Amino acid sequence: MGNKQITVLGLGSMGQTLARLFLDKGYTVTVWNRTAGKADALAARGALAAGSAAEAVRASPVAVMCVYDYRAADAILAMEGVAAALDGRLLVQLTTGSPQDARDAEAWAHRQGASYLEGAIQAAPDQMGQPDTPILVSGAEVVFRAAEPLLGVLGGGIVYLGGKASAAAAMDLATLSTIYGTLLGFLHGARVAEHEGFDVAEYGRIVAGIMPTFAGFLQHEGGVIQSGDFAISQSPMRISIEATQRILQTAQQAGISTEFPAFAAGLFKRADAAGLGGEEVAALIKLLRS
Ligand SMILES: NC(=O)c1ccc[n+]([C@@H]2O[C@H](COP(=O)([O-])OP(=O)(O)OC[C@H]3O[C@@H](n4cnc5c(N)ncnc54)[C@H](OP(=O)(O)O)[C@@H]3O)[C@@H](O)[C@H]2O)c1
Repeated sequence: MGNKQITVLGLGSMGQTLARLFLDKGYTVTVWNRTAGKADALAARGALAAGSAAEAVRASPVAVMCVYDYRAADAILAMEGVAAALDGRLLVQLTTGSPQDARDAEAWAHRQGASYLEGAIQAAPDQMGQPDTPILVSGAEVVFRAAEPLLGVLGGGIVYLGGKASAAAAMDLATLSTIYGTLLGFLHGARVAEHEGFDVAEYGRIVAGIMPTFAGFLQHEGGVIQSGDFAISQSPMRISIEATQRILQTAQQAGISTEFPAFAAGLFKRADAAGLGGEEVAALIKLLRS
């Protein structure tokens, strides 16, 4: 993999960015996209536009794929000559998918004689190629180590999650769960802010200021769950039981949506009923396990 030749399949906003980053680092980049015109700007910068997906795969020892979803990815892999062209090559799948998608894709790639890595990009196109750009990667370690230099072109924040190809997709889902849980709480808070007549942009700035401390708190709670020791260390469950009830009651009194606080308060109420009130807040995981 030292010869700096790479193929990029899929030239949406992310795929175009990946191809550009490889070009900027002096790689010979072959590109292919279903809608051929999307290769034009890259060709003007020195990329080689292949006439078919199979031709693109044959051009380099490594093919990076980044398309909309696994249905799109499967459609490309099923195109004439692609499976045969992958024999002896590495397929790096950067299309977002589920753990099962990744397992199936790895098994399929191995059947074609290809090596396989799964990657989950956790950044927007404009954030790619930075020293801290987070990309989760999983798959056989020997394959990952050989591919590390080229993956490093896409971002300095590569996190290798081990030999199971599904790991990157699974961790992507886990971190997305944090993001969507936080987002829902943020949006409920925005509703509170606008109902109270606050400047919602100011609310956003205040939340941004809280985030580094909150991130440290979440990290601590992860350690608590892993250790299995739920003795109070930072935040007693009781505080969250009461806080979520207060948020719910305030929404009811204000006549604003109770959907988010009813869900959160309901979970903490169950934790209380289960006798977890005197434990660290992370003990809520015990409810989620049952
Ligand atoms: N953009 C982001 O912020 C971001 C961040 C993290 C991860 N990702 C992941 O990166 C992947 C690509 O995202 P993107 O933003 O580049 O998407 P996009 O701009 O919507 O591009 C979609 C790509 O998929 C191709 N495609 C869709 N359906 C197809 C089909 N049936 N057959 C062949 N090709 C098909 C499109 O080809 P055509 O041009 O022919 O339509 C295009 O190349 C996704 O899995 C996404 O979750 C994106």
